[in-house]
This record gives sequence, structure tokens and C-alpha cells, in this order.
Amino acid sequence: MKIKFCLPSVEHTLQIGNFIGQFVYIPAFICLTGELGTGKTTFTKGLAMGFGIKDNITSPTFTLINEFATKDKHFFHFDLYRLDNPEEIFLWDLDEYLKKSNSIVAIEWADRLKNLNNYERLDVCFEYLPISPGVEGRNIILNSYGTKYLSLLEEVQKFVDTWS
Ligand SMILES: Nc1ncnc2c1ncn2[C@@H]1O[C@H](COP(=O)(O)OP(=O)(O)OP(=O)(O)O)[C@@H](O)[C@H]1O
Ligand SMILES: [Mg+2]
Repeated sequence: MKIKFCLPSVEHTLQIGNFIGQFVYIPAFICLTGELGTGKTTFTKGLAMGFGIKDNITSPTFTLINEFATKDKHFFHFDLYRLDNPEEIFLWDLDEYLKKSNSIVAIEWADRLKNLNNYERLDVCFEYLPISPGVEGRNIILNSYGTKYLSLLEEVQKFVDTWS
């Protein structure tokens, strides 16, 4: 299932991340793609907030991964932008993260990983969307691979319908 809608402002990006962080079944695997500066980190901030993580999320600069935790939850934020060689990330490592209970794994620039085909996941893609001269919003495309995220997408659609 695939849904696409417009995020007219930063707040919309945060809100949709927040909504998904609250209602996604965990453990969750969320793959973020889209050109430079389209909103992947902003969405991840909202996602962490909705999941109950109080820390301020910024992209890991010198590492590929940041981990945030509460007493009983884990939030793993990967940013693969600086990944020179996709072989640096071994997929069995990813499996270790995905096996943890009560966790969300969110990966920016997930398209740098090959071999994601076998993974049940939610793909989130951002695009620039010119709204009026000098004003640019975003499109977001949510695509569920496998059945796990289907009902979430239905709820997201209902939530977004309340915006208009
Ligand atoms: N829906 C939106 N409309 C307009 N601006 C937005 C929207 N969502 C996010 N932004 C803005 O886009 C800019 C880039 O956002 P962000 O850092 O989240 O992108 P990114 O995809 O993570 O970038 P990078 O590719 O560098 O990792 C920020 O200034 C943010 O406030
Ligand atoms: Mg980013």
C-alpha cells in the first residue's frame, strides 16, 4: 500500500512523524529517502517524540548511528549519508538492531543499503514541492512492504484527512 500527500510546512513533517511514532507497531523498521534537505531528520525528530524519547534528535555526524533510550524503549537513528561504501554496513548487524523488542530503527538515506527487499518495513520518501513563488513544502510518500504497516497507513490517511 502506498499513500502520498503534501506537507505544507515543517510542523506538518513533525506532526506526521509524531503520529507514526505513537501508533506504529514495534519493533518498527522505517527507511527514509529523499534528496538532500527534504525533511528526513525533521520527520525523525517527530517520530522519536511520538515514541516517547525526550532527547533532541540531531543527525549523527561522525558516527552512522545514534541510540536513544528510555527505561524500556530504544530508538536507533542511522544516517548513511557519509557512508562511502555500502559494504561497511553488514546486514547481519542491521538484523541485530531489528531483533530488539520495544524499538524503532529509522534509517536516513536507506537507499544506500541494497538487499532491503526481504525486510518488512515502512518506506518514507520526501520530495520538494513548490507551493507558491519562494515557498516550498514537501510531498511525502509512505509505502508499506509487507502487511505489518497496512493498518498504520490507513490511520495516517484518516489523520491527514483532518488537515483539509
Ligand atoms: N514540510 C516542510 N516544508 C518546508 N520545509 C520543511 C518541511 N519539512 C522540513 N523542512 C525543512 O527542510 C530543511 C531540511 O530538513 P531536514 O534536515 O530534516 O532534511 P534532511 O532530509 O534530513 O536533510 P539531509 O539530506 O541533509 O539529511 C529544514 O530547514 C526543515 O525545517
Ligand atoms: Mg538528515
